[in-house]
Amino acid sequence: MPYYGGAVFYSPIICSDKMYKPEELAIYIHWPFCKSKCPYCDFYKEVNRNINQNDIIEEYLSALHRYYDLLPNRHVKSIFFGGGTPSLIEAKNIEKIIDFITKYWKISQNIEISLEANPNTRYDTMFKDFKNAGINRLSLGVQALNDDDLHFLGRSHNVKTARLCLQEIVQVFNNHSADLIYALPQQSLKSWSQQLEEICSFSLKHLSLYQLTIEENTVFARRGIKPLDEEKSVEIYNYTRNYLSKKNYKHYEVSNFAVSGYESKHNLTYWQGGEYIGIGKSAHGRICINNQHFAVTYPFNNEKLTSQQRAEELIIMGLRLTEGINKADFQNICGINFYNFINLEKLNQLKELGMLIESPTHVFVSYKGFLLIDAIIAELCS
Ligand SMILES: C[S@@+](CC[C@H](N)C(=O)[O-])C[C@H]1O[C@@H](n2cnc3c(N)ncnc32)[C@H](O)[C@@H]1O
Ligand code: SF4
Repeated sequence: MPYYGGAVFYSPIICSDKMYKPEELAIYIHWPFCKSKCPYCDFYKEVNRNINQNDIIEEYLSALHRYYDLLPNRHVKSIFFGGGTPSLIEAKNIEKIIDFITKYWKISQNIEISLEANPNTRYDTMFKDFKNAGINRLSLGVQALNDDDLHFLGRSHNVKTARLCLQEIVQVFNNHSADLIYALPQQSLKSWSQQLEEICSFSLKHLSLYQLTIEENTVFARRGIKPLDEEKSVEIYNYTRNYLSKKNYKHYEVSNFAVSGYESKHNLTYWQGGEYIGIGKSAHGRICINNQHFAVTYPFNNEKLTSQQRAEELIIMGLRLTEGINKADFQNICGINFYNFINLEKLNQLKELGMLIESPTHVFVSYKGFLLIDAIIAELCS
């Protein structure tokens, strides 16, 4: 195990296929419609009533066309159908979008094409239909593996359907993921550990595990639901990281775990500071043209970002990765030397406290620092 400056090296390095490459582009397709609204969710969404799917798909294709005109030389590394509930999109429409993108743009070898599916949209051939449409990675919104927790979360599927979907996705796809939410109020370590054990029994390649957050303006906030107390949340988080590392899942981002080589290429783009565009209401992107950075929001609004703004984003996103920030990439992307941007005094203090670790190429948060990541980011950027 390499040893740097007195701190144990804890940074599973992401394999070369997943490293930042400047010519690559990730495309996010947002489907903002859901069958019903979950009481904890503050993502932009609408209930799926009276919509004309074909019209929306045509609108998305013409937006993609405009982006192609702007960024014709990029290689598309990933397409992500997210939501909302993109498993409500008909398979033929998914295929239309994938065909359009792959016809116009150059495509990276091993392109990742993901779709987030909600078990409440399942029908017998749903996953096969998505695979035939071109999806090669399926992410399932399981959220919980017992009916009491699903009921508390206001989900409209039950555990039986979740298990059926899990069995189906491992049969149909080679690359799969599940989302679960932990640290529900009153949740015991025992209840969570049973769910963790069960989800591992499906041998998925990737897990996204989110601590329940009570967001303002949600039904949960209005009902006055309080999160699990911090000590217990920390206990569950530490248990989860240890348990999953024994099961060969690498903890590579605050909430994400993967079998080596199966980290989400799409989400790595956000965390590594790569370029992405977003199609659909409330979607957004980051692009760079002639060394000028832009924040783009759908349908086509571009706002210039200064190098300092971009640099701050790179710190906020990059430290979420256990691998941390690649100092050379940082400079290549925003044009500012890493040490000229961060607060050097704070960097040294955080290193002495064992919260941050520095290797010749990277700066990353230590195992214990991960619990204080927001405070660490604020100090570094102060
Ligand atoms: C935008 S949702 C899309 C997934 C899909 N709509 C579904 O719910 O099945 C992405 C993930 O964020 C997580 N999530 C959403 N709101 C959350 C909250 N308040 N606290 C923790 N996790 C949350 C859920 O695990 C969810 O699967
Ligand atoms: S959690 Fe998913 S299904 Fe539920 S309202 Fe939010 S986006 Fe829709």
